[in-house]
Amino acid sequence: MPFHIQDVPSSTHEAVYRWENEALGVIGFIAVHSTVLGPAFGGARVWSYGSEAEALTDALRLSEGMSYKNALAELGAGGGKSVFWARRPFTDRDAVFACFGDVVESLSGRYITAEDVGTSVSDMQVVRARTRFVAGLPAAEGKAGGDPSPWTALGVMSALEAALAADGQTVQGLTVAVQGLGSVGRKLCALLSGAGAKLIVADCVVGRAEQVADEFGATVCGPGSALASPADILAPCALGGILNERTIPEIKARYIVGAANNQLASPADGHALAGRGITYVPDYVANAGGIINAMAEFRGDDDHAVEQDVRHIGARVEALLGQARQGGEPPFQVAQKRALDLIAGRAKRSALA
Ligand code: NAI
Repeated sequence: MPFHIQDVPSSTHEAVYRWENEALGVIGFIAVHSTVLGPAFGGARVWSYGSEAEALTDALRLSEGMSYKNALAELGAGGGKSVFWARRPFTDRDAVFACFGDVVESLSGRYITAEDVGTSVSDMQVVRARTRFVAGLPAAEGKAGGDPSPWTALGVMSALEAALAADGQTVQGLTVAVQGLGSVGRKLCALLSGAGAKLIVADCVVGRAEQVADEFGATVCGPGSALASPADILAPCALGGILNERTIPEIKARYIVGAANNQLASPADGHALAGRGITYVPDYVANAGGIINAMAEFRGDDDHAVEQDVRHIGARVEALLGQARQGGEPPFQVAQKRALDLIAGRAKRSALA
């Protein structure tokens, strides 16, 4: 598939590529934040960005988060991310992903892709026909692989339980507000409901929250009021940037643990949460389950070790919150410093788990 690729200068990222196929109406960015710890690994997002600049900004932020996530999960991978900016709805989706596969292949393994918001297992199967640098494909018998979202949900659940356990609590009888009921949010609701939590659920797609409410006896709230709902725990499972100066003063929950990437709009918002006494588990610590499974798949590992590795996120959260309390620093700051130290080779592995 023909494509035009060029470097985008960046002072923060190792490499940023802009690629385009004019006939397909697609422009994409692949942001490689760091390959110090291994190939840049992170999913491909299709989203209705308002502009090309917005798509690029998202790729930069998401790939940086992937560096931290992959470093802390000790995957032997760096951080990267792809985003697509569709000028119009794709008319030939398979051709778009075939072209994307060729772009990924042209980077010779510097970047490994997988699915993310707006992309699916079947998209990755199209990519796989053009490059081996992809994960999130259907699992072979006894091997890791497949849809990462159940693993992401399990990791978030483990993180949430660890955050509560640090205060001597369990989720039984507590209320959790889940914002976003897509692949991860819905599965998290199932886990929470199974553990005896009460649920408040919200989604911007009409009817989705009602469906989940029927299934789990949850209360529905409007997407605009999910963050301010009367919950003990908030689980953001939609999109990023939702913890900001406008929303934070309204949050009633004492814990925030969710799957959405880049929940904090800025570091100042992390401090604002800490100032309000809210325990915020950094998204890239809590939501690593999917990439843990994807890396196991990419390496060709058996599936039996994945569950244990994903549940280990709980131990990582316990250690992180312990260090944060001891040092009087917000957990997001401790986690970021640790990730940066790992990437810079200043820290030994496993000091946080
Ligand atoms: P998804 O696209 O399946 O679901 C997202 C859901 O959020 C959709 O139902 C959408 O309608 C809803 N939504 C969007 N904006 C909303 C709003 N303002 N209020 C309420 N609902 C809203 O995505 P998925 O896979 O469930 O991922 C959720 C989040 O977790 C994303 O931020 C993703 O990047 C992150 N994540 C997902 C992983 C995975 O394994 N799928 C792995 C790590 C992170």
